[in-house]
Amino acid sequence: MMVVRTVAELRAALRPHRTAQHSIALVPTMGALHEGHLSLIRHARAHDGVVAVSLFLNPSQFNERSDLERYPRNERRDAALAEAAGADLLFAPSVEEVYPPGFATSVEVLGLTERFEGAARGSEHFRGVTTVVTKLLCMALPDVTYFGQKDAQQVVVIRRLVEDLNLPVRIEALPTVREPDGLAMSSRNALLSAEERHRALAIPAALDAARERVIAGERAASTLVEAGVARLHASGIEPEYVSLVDPDTLEPIDTLTGAGLLVLAARVGHVRLIDNAVLVPQGAPNPRRPLPGKALA
Ligand code: PAJ
Repeated sequence: MMVVRTVAELRAALRPHRTAQHSIALVPTMGALHEGHLSLIRHARAHDGVVAVSLFLNPSQFNERSDLERYPRNERRDAALAEAAGADLLFAPSVEEVYPPGFATSVEVLGLTERFEGAARGSEHFRGVTTVVTKLLCMALPDVTYFGQKDAQQVVVIRRLVEDLNLPVRIEALPTVREPDGLAMSSRNALLSAEERHRALAIPAALDAARERVIAGERAASTLVEAGVARLHASGIEPEYVSLVDPDTLEPIDTLTGAGLLVLAARVGHVRLIDNAVLVPQGAPNPRRPLPGKALA
C-alpha cells in the first residue's frame, strides 16, 4: 500500500489506473478504523480495480473542540488495518494541504442538514462534511465512493450534494456493522464505561422493538416511535430524537406504507450515540437502490 500526502501525489498515483480504465474506489474516513470502516474497504477491494482510502480528521466538522481533541489518532495502526483490508493507496493529507492559507469556499446542502444531526451538532457539522467530501471527490475523482449506512443522514446529504452539483461519482451505502451483541460499531464505543456499554444495548433493542411492531402489523409512526422510546426509557436513556422518516427526503412520515427510516440519537453517560434501521412493511416494495455491488443502470 502506498501512502501519499498531497493532492498532486494522489492524482499521480491514480493516473495509470484511470488510463487503464480501472474502476477507482474511494473510502473516506477520519481514522480510528474499526470493522465498520474495514467492511467498506473490503467491499471496494472485492468490487473495484483500485482502492483509495482517505484518512483525514476533518477539523471543520467538529462542533465541539473537546470531541476533536479526544478523537483517537494513530496513523500507523490505521495504515496497517487499511492495508490488510485491501487498500492500495492511503491518502493522509495535512490540514494545510486540505485547507491552505486563504481557503474561503464552503459547500452547503440546505434543508436536509437542518434536522437531526444538523440540529443537534450545529450547521457547521454538515457544512464541514459536505465541504470536505466535495474536496475529496474533486481530489481523487473516483468512480465510486463508499459510505456506511450507520450515518444514514450523511448518506442522504451526500447523495443530494452529488446530484445537485452533477459530480460524476456513484455513491454507495453499505450496511451498518455491529458488535456481536448488536451495538453499532463506532469509535465512540470505547469511551463508554462497562455499565454504559451494557446500557447502550437499549439502542439496537429500541430499533428491534419498532421492527417487531412492524412485523406484527403496526403501521402508525407514532406507535413505532413510542415502542423505541419505551425500550430506551426502560434502560434509563432519554433519547435526543427518535423519528420515522422518508429514507430519501428525511421528511417525517405518519404511516408506514413503503420503507421508512427510523433514526435515533441518545447520550449514554457523556457519550452521544446514533443508530438507525430501515423498516419495510411486509409485502411493500423495497424502494431502496439496487443492493451494493449490484450493477447500476
Ligand atoms: P468516519 O466517522 O471515520 O466514518 C467513515 C465511514 O465509515 C463513514 O461512511 C461511516 O458511515 C462509516 N462507518 C462508521 N461506522 C460504521 C459502521 N458501524 N458500519 C458501517 N460503516 C460505518 O463519516 C466520516 O468519517 C466523515 O464524516 C467523512 C465522511 C470521512 C468526512 O470527513
